[in-house]
Amino acid sequence: MLIDRPEKESYTCREVLNKVLLGDALTVLRKLPEESVDMVFMDPPYFLQLPPKELRRWTVRTVVEGVNDDWDQFGSFEEYDEFIKNILLAIRRVMKPNATLWVIATYHSIFRIGKIMQDLGYWILNDVHWVKTNPMPNWLGVRFTNATETLIWAVKDKKAKKYTFNKEFAKEFGIGKIGANVWVLPICSGRERLKGEDGKKLHSTQKPVELLRRVILTSTQEGDTILDPVAGVGTTGYVAQALNRNFIMIEINPKYVKGIEKRFEEPLKLKAISSKDKKKVAEYVTVEE
Ligand SMILES: C[S@@+](CC[C@H](N)C(=O)[O-])C[C@H]1O[C@@H](n2cnc3c(N)ncnc32)[C@H](O)[C@@H]1O
Repeated sequence: MLIDRPEKESYTCREVLNKVLLGDALTVLRKLPEESVDMVFMDPPYFLQLPPKELRRWTVRTVVEGVNDDWDQFGSFEEYDEFIKNILLAIRRVMKPNATLWVIATYHSIFRIGKIMQDLGYWILNDVHWVKTNPMPNWLGVRFTNATETLIWAVKDKKAKKYTFNKEFAKEFGIGKIGANVWVLPICSGRERLKGEDGKKLHSTQKPVELLRRVILTSTQEGDTILDPVAGVGTTGYVAQALNRNFIMIEINPKYVKGIEKRFEEPLKLKAISSKDKKKVAEYVTVEE
């Protein structure tokens, strides 16, 4: 772990490679070397705007554990948009010319993020729809159960052509014979879900290893450097390491950074075949304990 300090003006690649930096992404990103990363995965705050009062499920009346964390609070859409714009600008500077960026969000913010990305010059390659097989149950019974998140995949500008796209993996993961842009997989639960000392979820929005495995295998090569500027409990770096990629992670909350350090004490076991072995892509599977 590296703690970002105000007096530190810049970092070399060597200093930050395969490290998690404790600090504000808006500050730390400005200190990273220009054009230094091959892929960025960003899972930013959602700005869910949940009501402060307790929500109960309409069926069994149990309390809903929504995302009401401090890091998800913003004063207004303008404030949220400003945060997203500044972080996207800072990310663009550190992306290599042919690097790609993934951003994941729900309907609460994905449309705003997509517009901001286009306004800044990012060129959208795809949106991938993650269909959750075990979504949070419907809360109040007044609208559809939300069972999807959207991932926007983009290059930093329209001229970028030689980005990495491993089509064999894309075909393997997407639905149907053509490998369409729909990924069907469960949210993180059970043993995979990290717990704090109180036995409760350490992070309310920990992403599944399988989601990152798909992102990383479809859009990077072994040895590439992957940046996650809002790392949470570090799923991106954890999977990157297992797939022989490098990572740089930034997270503002010391509790989550501690969680990352603990998580890395038990490295993820993925049965790692060479990504060049196109016929065997299906064998890239998580090893069950
Ligand atoms: C949606 S969560 C990411 C979850 C992560 N993908 C995982 O699997 O654990 C967003 C994270 O952004 C962090 N965050 C919010 N603002 C930040 C900032 N300015 N700099 C760095 N991290 C920030 C929050 O603390 C939170 O952990």
